Amino acid sequence: MERAEIEQWLRETDDKRLKTLWDIADKVRNDHVGSAVYLRGLVEFSNNCARQCAYCGLHAGNRKVNRYRMTEDEIVACAHKAVEFGYGTVVLQSGEDRAYKRDDLSSIIRRIKTETPLAVTLSLGEREDAELLAWREAGADRYLLRFETSNPDLYAIIHPNLAGKPSDRLAMLRRMRDMGYEIGSGIMVGIPGQTYADIARDIETFRELDLDMIGIGPYLSHPDTMLGQRREELTAPGGEQAPSGELMTYKAVALTRIALPEANIPSTTALATVNRAKGRELGLRRGANIMMPNITPVKYRKDYQIYPGKACIMEDAAACHGCMLMRIEALGRTVGSGRGDSPHYKNANLAPA
Ligand code: 5AD
Ligand code: FES
Repeated sequence: MERAEIEQWLRETDDKRLKTLWDIADKVRNDHVGSAVYLRGLVEFSNNCARQCAYCGLHAGNRKVNRYRMTEDEIVACAHKAVEFGYGTVVLQSGEDRAYKRDDLSSIIRRIKTETPLAVTLSLGEREDAELLAWREAGADRYLLRFETSNPDLYAIIHPNLAGKPSDRLAMLRRMRDMGYEIGSGIMVGIPGQTYADIARDIETFRELDLDMIGIGPYLSHPDTMLGQRREELTAPGGEQAPSGELMTYKAVALTRIALPEANIPSTTALATVNRAKGRELGLRRGANIMMPNITPVKYRKDYQIYPGKACIMEDAAACHGCMLMRIEALGRTVGSGRGDSPHYKNANLAPA
């Protein structure tokens, strides 16, 4: 599918034609990655962040956030919980928090890799190559780093550089691929200033990067952020602003599945947040094949609000687990067993045996 055709689909509003798009995406998903839905246990282990992202509620300047850091033992205990629930992967996510030094994280990764059979995915923001290499050596399998938007001007507005360090997430993703990580990225849909054409280019960029995993969620306005406060003035003019919200996100998920048939695509928490009843299901029926149940201890969850009203804040790990199983079953799909490596990565013959 060429960029112009992707863009045309992104502008589509006719329900009947959109049904065709959902059906194609669902078939491509079934043909290439099958009916299994893989579950990845998500541990949000620190909400401290050095960055000033204009969209994110956890940005360094937000004094209203009650900051926390989990200890090594707490994090490893969550990994054991993931094993109990039958998950094949644990995702360690945090703000860009340099209080966890290279060796601290290496030790956590090594413990999880020796004490459990889990695949370990890291999602820690922009870190040094020496750190990324050390964590890979310690056994980390995958890294998630969304590039958020492929529009460089918009990216510069929403993601200020650290002093003296231009942020180049695309380059970092390529380097991590060379280090042997399975790489994941993604975008937010409906960022103020993001156009239909931008999202079409984002999807092309997924293909160029040849991603193993792609996370796509609706942008949700957070009142204590620059974007939340200046939304109107940043909105793209002339009817070109991509809407935020469910429908646009499903279109992006479906088109991404068609563009990258073998990628792992989660039905995201942000989708569950905009449609509590059906968001996760509709994501899974329109291209997605992964869900990421939250296994963060309940006492920390309320403090990891990257956007307001985040789903699953009150539930504990067992509740989220049960909820996901029920939803998968109701769709007539199966729960994936094992690590759920990207078939694309396996085909590329890079996966560890
Ligand atoms: N709305 C939606 N998604 C957000 N993220 C951060 N802030 C928001 C927001 N306000 C997403 C970003 C980030 C991921 C961890 O969460 O895409 O990469
Ligand atoms: Fe957490 Fe449904 S997945 S409550």
